[in-house]
Amino acid sequence: MCGIVGYVGKRNCADVLVGSLRKLEYRGYDSAGIAVFENNKIKVEKCQGKLDNLVAKMERDGKPSGVCGIGHTRWATHGEPSDINSHPHGNKRLSIVHNGIIENYAKLKIFLEEQGYSFVSQTDTETVSKLLDYYYDGAPVDTIIRAISEVEGSYALGIIFRDFPDRIFAVRKDSPLIIGVGEGENFIASDVPAILNYTKNYYLLEQDEIAVISRDEVIIYDIHKEIVHKELQTADWDADAAEKGGYEHFMLKEIHEQPTAIKTTITPRINEGMPDFSECGLTDEILASYRNIYIVACGTAMHAGMVGKYVIEKLARTPVTVDMASEFRYRDPIVGEGDLVILISQSGETADTKEALNISKRKGAKTLALVNVKGSSIAREADMVMYTHAGPEISVASTKAFTVQISMMYMLAFKLAYAKGVITEEKCREYVSELLEVPALIEKYLSDKNEAQYAASRIMNAESLLYIGRGLDYALSMEGSLKLKEISYIHSEAYAAGELKHGPIALISDQTPVIAIATQSDVLEKTVSNIEEVKSRGAKVVLMCGENAQIGEGVADYVIRIPECDKLLMPIVAAVPLQLIAYYTAILRGNDVDQPRNLAKSVTVE
Ligand code: M6R
Repeated sequence: MCGIVGYVGKRNCADVLVGSLRKLEYRGYDSAGIAVFENNKIKVEKCQGKLDNLVAKMERDGKPSGVCGIGHTRWATHGEPSDINSHPHGNKRLSIVHNGIIENYAKLKIFLEEQGYSFVSQTDTETVSKLLDYYYDGAPVDTIIRAISEVEGSYALGIIFRDFPDRIFAVRKDSPLIIGVGEGENFIASDVPAILNYTKNYYLLEQDEIAVISRDEVIIYDIHKEIVHKELQTADWDADAAEKGGYEHFMLKEIHEQPTAIKTTITPRINEGMPDFSECGLTDEILASYRNIYIVACGTAMHAGMVGKYVIEKLARTPVTVDMASEFRYRDPIVGEGDLVILISQSGETADTKEALNISKRKGAKTLALVNVKGSSIAREADMVMYTHAGPEISVASTKAFTVQISMMYMLAFKLAYAKGVITEEKCREYVSELLEVPALIEKYLSDKNEAQYAASRIMNAESLLYIGRGLDYALSMEGSLKLKEISYIHSEAYAAGELKHGPIALISDQTPVIAIATQSDVLEKTVSNIEEVKSRGAKVVLMCGENAQIGEGVADYVIRIPECDKLLMPIVAAVPLQLIAYYTAILRGNDVDQPRNLAKSVTVE
């Protein structure tokens, strides 16, 4: 939530900041702003709304002309989206941008008011800018160290001081921050895509490290003002990967990238036809030794965990508990030595998932991170990490991250089932080779999107709808429902089809469409019975099933046929029409697909 950037070099700083913020807008778009040195004075431009509003404002007012500054794109936490609450915050002496939450801001505010400061915004960030001002004595690093020692919460801060017009300062705790290293120019950013147009090299700033960045030098200090020497990281993503590449929206591009993303994620983990996790030391013996498996994640990543639970339990006969990270962290979970906790996260920065990781480690469980963003906090802090190789996912609605995550869930299930002796090596190889066929099936489905478009036209005017399914189809219906609600703003719920009669069927009328997912042949007839029940109460039904499924005439109002593979693997293919239905419904309703209201991609606050 919130993206921060900074630049010092020889280019027009405002242009660089706006370009970099554009790459971070997925982190929030309630307001945008920049602060740039112009004639050794800090010039601030900021306003409510998306970055385009800021660009238009600067076209009207004139954009700052300097070569050093900081920028921000906001997802509002404290204080409504407004011009006054937009970042940067500060005064003539200094200016700051902030990603995170200052938990003790109320206490700090009282203290600062007692010292004579008055506040103009409702943000927590303004307290930090005033605290920095209060302690400022001409020595920025000392000032930062004093200020952060009094701040509780999470922060990635970009700071400029008027007395140092050729430098940016940065510090972080529990919110991500990288320092991009270029030729005669340097950067700060909340995430790698923001710097890719200029450099692929960067430093990862660790907890409470303070960076002093000029155009030719980056000096990093720890909290005791000792210099820290760091290894330069290299991004393996190209600048193109963070562009729309001819697609109208990132979401559509990312949906199309799924076949490649799945191949790139699973292929390096196949050795002579068998899953191989030696990259993180996960041998058959270790894998088979875990007593219980927990999968902890949020949103779409949690739904990937639900698919994982069904597949791992089915194949490997090992109990799997799936938890929302926000619940896990406060319910004193019964995890401990001998258990494996798998944390799934695209960004690797989700606050609740990160805390779930810390709790699991404290309780003595082994932790495995399944993460897309290289070097992210969860990836670094877990005992073991396996990266998904989906490339940057920019659209707020997660698509390719989900299918690579579930592909890895299958790989784990195959390997665990083999390691525990539940399936033979031959069967394991068979599953792996079936999984390798899936990308081609997705490609096939993507070659004709008419069905999904038509289904979208049938539901676009609904106020509310239900997704139903059984077993793996139920796990998938949760993801279908989330995708639809987050970008179309149509209310939807996912129910296990067998649960309908226990309450939710009361919602059914001719105004409540139902999307029924029935890819699992063993429960197909059961789901069809549930479809009959909702149809007889007036619901219009869109049914998704395998292309060979035997479905009676008139069972559903509209049938989407999905290319067939082993039924266990069908959710990977079936995820795609669900994503497309959500996408086209949002388009038909005129919504901003990539930047849905109220959301941000990377939820770095609780
Ligand atoms: O970065 P993460 O995978 O940890 O993010 C978790 C959720 O915030 C995320 O999946 C969210 O639910 C997506 N917007 C759904 O499309």
